[in-house]
Amino acid sequence: MKYTLITGASKGMGLEMAHVCAAKKMNLLLVSLPNEGLEKLALTISNEYDVKTDFFETNLAVNENIDKVYEWALLHNYSVNFLINNAGIGGMGPFESYSPEYINNTIDINVRATTKLSYCFIPELKKNAPSFLLNNASMMANFACPYKSVYAASKIYIKNFSRALREELKPFDISVSTLQPGATPTTDLVRNQIETGGRLAKLSVTNPRLVAEDAINKTLSKKKYIVPGWQNRVIVFILKLLPTSVKIKLILHSFGSMLNKSAHS
Ligand SMILES: NC(=O)c1ccc[n+]([C@@H]2O[C@H](COP(=O)([O-])OP(=O)(O)OC[C@H]3O[C@@H](n4cnc5c(N)ncnc54)[C@H](OP(=O)(O)O)[C@@H]3O)[C@@H](O)[C@H]2O)c1
Repeated sequence: MKYTLITGASKGMGLEMAHVCAAKKMNLLLVSLPNEGLEKLALTISNEYDVKTDFFETNLAVNENIDKVYEWALLHNYSVNFLINNAGIGGMGPFESYSPEYINNTIDINVRATTKLSYCFIPELKKNAPSFLLNNASMMANFACPYKSVYAASKIYIKNFSRALREELKPFDISVSTLQPGATPTTDLVRNQIETGGRLAKLSVTNPRLVAEDAINKTLSKKKYIVPGWQNRVIVFILKLLPTSVKIKLILHSFGSMLNKSAHS
């Protein structure tokens, strides 16, 4: 029996993707931090959509825990043919203001967990092909972002990593896609950023369920890059045409506005 494994499935985009997949009768393995109600969620989804579900609670920032996710899936003979590396953390501010813990966590979760989970599960994806690998980056994977320096850089890594894997895994009937959402109101932090942000942030807002539907449908149709929302596709297109100096000024203006308003609120 084939399974789709989703990290960061307890809320936000991961939860929305779980519903979209279950509605397509895909069996699910849900992975998130402990004590976030995964057991109840797995049961609810299983009953609502009549699919098989299981869950694994773990902190993906800890290197060894990624091996444990893989060993758990093997032990239960879950044949994974769709891996969704969605778990990630955001944040913004001047680089110097970041705590060492924030920097480590961003790199450990956004970069290392995605890389290592992909590495662990590739043999399974090969065995269960046709298979799919979806990595959640961000629209910010397309530019350097002052005041989101580490986050944006982590997502640039994800985009390039996924693009390279796409070519390597094509001969094995594994399709790799990169999701690049714009501002998606999933957390209070993001909602606050949208509220205090410039026009660019507000223009980029996309509904989490629509992001999830686009993500799953386009991954299954083997699309390379997925940018949910026509307005975001236009923004990415235009920003790519602009010289870097102009682009950086626009981004700086948008995030500078957020920081100023946050500092005075
Ligand atoms: N929201 C946006 O505007 C936006 C835009 C572009 C890209 N993205 C990307 O989209 C992905 C999902 O974001 P979201 O907005 O849906 O965030 P979210 O609502 O905060 O959900 C994040 C998920 O990741 C899990 N997670 C976080 N740290 C973890 C860890 N150390 N170990 C295991 N699981 C962990 C969380 O688990 P718990 O519930 O257990 O905490 C939660 O399920 C991220 O990769 C993010 O960078 C978001």
